[in-house]
Amino acid sequence: MQATLEIRPQEAQINAGLLARDEEARPVIELEQVHKIYTMGDVEVHALRGISLTIREGEFVAIMGTSGSGKSTMMNIIGCLDHPTKGRYVLDGEDVSEMSKDERADIRSQKLGFVFQGFNLLSRTSALENVELPMLYAGVDAAERHSRSMEALRSVGLSGREHNHPNQLSGGQQQRVAIARSLVNRPALILADEPTGNLDSRTSIEVMEIFQKLNRERGITLVLVTHEHDIAEYADRVVVFKDGRIKEDYRIENPRDASEELRLLPDVEQDED
Ligand SMILES: Nc1ncnc2c1ncn2[C@@H]1O[C@H](COP(=O)(O)OP(=O)(O)OP(=O)(O)O)[C@@H](O)[C@H]1O
Ligand SMILES: [Mg+2]
Repeated sequence: MQATLEIRPQEAQINAGLLARDEEARPVIELEQVHKIYTMGDVEVHALRGISLTIREGEFVAIMGTSGSGKSTMMNIIGCLDHPTKGRYVLDGEDVSEMSKDERADIRSQKLGFVFQGFNLLSRTSALENVELPMLYAGVDAAERHSRSMEALRSVGLSGREHNHPNQLSGGQQQRVAIARSLVNRPALILADEPTGNLDSRTSIEVMEIFQKLNRERGITLVLVTHEHDIAEYADRVVVFKDGRIKEDYRIENPRDASEELRLLPDVEQDED
């Protein structure tokens, strides 16, 4: 299968590669001394112990660290699914640490796209309807929902698969539906928690190709959790967690290039075109 991601030139105004290294680029995420304590009965788990992190527009950041180090906890906070016990979180210029549940839900649908390890698609619904769903919540009208979904599916190489249900798609195709779904509300930021965790290595590279194109050609800011070093190497910055703290934070000068690698891989049987 060839991933046939196309992104139109007019959408590629932002050169993310330049922006990412530009200290002047606008911060999209600002975490200041964020703590998260989970209380279960009389047991307290201190999952985040003072995280300070700034991620700027156009960056592609991989989050790594051992199991239980706090990665998903931080992603839940960044994604406005949860709030810090202590500390401040400013998303795209807005302080969300004190917002109510409803306000956070609005911010989520306006500014954020989510991609998960298990795809999280509705099983009895077509690819097209899955992609339309976030726009339904955002109050976009039916005609616009349809056209944006078709375009998003096209942009991840799934034209012709719109009416397939998830169980009629491969794992990589399901993840591409999930990426299309994450795009339709035109988010400032896409959050992906182990998006290649359930995929074989070639399919993982195909998914990383899509993320790299979204980042480089559309300037979308990306934060991606992974356990795999070779997946982190597609990003341009790596943040490593340990015991609820940031242990390392470094740039990758020459990230792997997924398109180039796919070009060099031997062809597998085509399932499209
Ligand atoms: N809802 C919760 N209630 C109580 N404790 C939790 C909850 N979610 C996470 N924890 C605890 O917080 C700590 C951090 O968990 P978290 O899920 O953030 O780790 P992680 O780095 O994402 O791990 P993994 O790589 O296994 O996904 C762990 O000790 C975990 O047990
Ligand atoms: Mg996790």
